[in-house]
Amino acid sequence: MNKILVTTALPYANGPIHLGHLAGCYLPADVYVRYQKLRGRECIHIGGTDENGVPITIKAEAISKTPYEVATYYHNEIKKDFKKIGILFDHFGRTSSQCHHKLTQDFFLNLYKVGYIESKSVSQFFCIACKRFLPDRYIEGICQYCSSPSARGDQCDECGKWIEPRELKNPRCKLCGADPILKETKHWFFKLDILQDRLEGWLREKKSWRENVREFALGWVKEGLKPRPITRDLSWGVPVPLKEAEGKLIYVWFEAPIGYISSTMEWADLNQIDWRDWWTGDTRLVHFIGKDNIVFHAIMWPATLMAYGDLILPSDIPANEFLTIERRQMSTSRNYAIWLSDFLREFEPDPLRYALLSNAPESSDSDFTWDDFGMKNNELVGTLGNLINRTLKFTEKYMGGRIREKGRLLEVDNKVFNKLNECKREIEKAYENFSPKKATEIFMELAREGNRYFDHTRPWELKKSDPDRLSTVIWVVSSIIANLSIMAEPVLPFTSEKIRNLLSTVDKGWDDIGEGMPGQGVKIEGAKILFTPLSREKINLERRKMMSGMIKIDQFSILDIRVAKVESAERIEGTERLIRLLVDTGGDMRQIVAGIGEFYKPEELVGKKIVVLLNLEPMKIRGVESKGMLLAADVNGKAVLLTVDSDVPAGSNVR
Ligand code: 2FM
Ligand code: ZN
Repeated sequence: MNKILVTTALPYANGPIHLGHLAGCYLPADVYVRYQKLRGRECIHIGGTDENGVPITIKAEAISKTPYEVATYYHNEIKKDFKKIGILFDHFGRTSSQCHHKLTQDFFLNLYKVGYIESKSVSQFFCIACKRFLPDRYIEGICQYCSSPSARGDQCDECGKWIEPRELKNPRCKLCGADPILKETKHWFFKLDILQDRLEGWLREKKSWRENVREFALGWVKEGLKPRPITRDLSWGVPVPLKEAEGKLIYVWFEAPIGYISSTMEWADLNQIDWRDWWTGDTRLVHFIGKDNIVFHAIMWPATLMAYGDLILPSDIPANEFLTIERRQMSTSRNYAIWLSDFLREFEPDPLRYALLSNAPESSDSDFTWDDFGMKNNELVGTLGNLINRTLKFTEKYMGGRIREKGRLLEVDNKVFNKLNECKREIEKAYENFSPKKATEIFMELAREGNRYFDHTRPWELKKSDPDRLSTVIWVVSSIIANLSIMAEPVLPFTSEKIRNLLSTVDKGWDDIGEGMPGQGVKIEGAKILFTPLSREKINLERRKMMSGMIKIDQFSILDIRVAKVESAERIEGTERLIRLLVDTGGDMRQIVAGIGEFYKPEELVGKKIVVLLNLEPMKIRGVESKGMLLAADVNGKAVLLTVDSDVPAGSNVR
């Protein structure tokens, strides 16, 4: 079997990861890699952050930081986010690294020497007010293809076309809004036209690719490839390695994919192997991307590799379509997105993986709704969770927590094993064909089948009438669960690990699927609920909290939040937790009951200036009236009161 080198689009290190990134590229890739590794294949996942060029400098200017500071901050955040959601990388590099700069310059020089790169004098947009050239993203205007009013100078997000700034109608400077002028400057062009026929022939052979990718790329090539500028007048990125090109940088879309190689090099170095073993020969190179990156990966990048020579070309580019949120396109500039780190503060990773993958935008755009997330979560609870829960509970309660020796298998049991083998074949096909969506369907159907087997064999009746048969039945159900934990592992890695630990099947691999797995006599201890049901209230609450734009500023301003001084405090009789406070709100004395008794002694509170919300509906807590709520930070369940950092009068408004 060939080596498999999987890459995922390098996210710009200018913002955090949102659910669209996950569904479009990272989750499907992670599932694919986990599956291949589970099968014992030589497979690595290489990624990193895209840290050069305009996306980073625009952000840096917006928040008055250096580009390197911005990139470092988001590189670390993105890495943490991926870890929390269980996306594993063999190496996660940075395109600001020395290794990457060196390799990019080597690519440039190589192509230059063999005549793929030529320089030309061109007129380019220049903003007089900002005193600078305006490359790609510093320009906005109307898209010549779809008339979207907010196309950027590199690409139109609306129709996905790759554009040159000069093709935009009514161009304006993104920084100050002024009309730019055209000014002469020299740039270096990649002569894509030389590769026209080779690229077209190569793409035509890719019959197994997704149609959206192949058609889109072929469409472009057929329109005729032109030389494309691959240098920019910028201050942050990889310098062009030519004397006569001082001050010019290499275009981010020329160098970012080279990051797949430089990141592999770093990985190989750390593991003391030769990176070339992975970039030559019959390695299967698979690039997972979102559909907005198709042109660059299916045309520009293969062209770069062809011109460079010696290295492999992409074997497949399984690009996903977009994920919308409640039918609207996500937009980071309008702050319309669900950020992964916010989401994982409230919900577990596996239900999110399941919800996104079972609705993955594989062949058309798909939509994330909060209701659907709640349903998907509860589907896990009711199907997979229920099967595991009832089996383990039953075993603990009636069988001393042990899986006993199985007896003779009946037809109904044999059918289960036939089904397991059938599922194995189908699910292999689904994973191989980049369809985690299909794979989730298959294993969930199997979980339903498991529940039907449980209902049908009625173990609760067997415990008295036929204990031997009961042992067999429980062994069969446990086998289904153990099989499921392997088949579903790429999609639900956290859950799978818990089940494997519980059933002592940690050492079982893909080839064990179809077998009765749990050893006889295995003791099952400490079965815990694997999935938590989510109420509609919880879903609605988080929806309102996380969806930017859900709360208007005037809705926030009706909250009467003030600084208050604690006049007295005492524990409410008969409780440890509740403290009754009397606070001066600047003109009124209010009684507030707060559940902070575990963290504060009443006497510590007296005299403190704290922050309270006043216009809450009054309520009675343990018979004591409470008219307001104090605000505190929740630090792993511990309340830490908000206070003010200088001595302000009680009653000051908090806005
Ligand atoms: O669209 C993006 O987020 C780019 N940063 C993807 C780059 S992919 C690769 F070429 F590095
Ligand atoms: Zn457009």
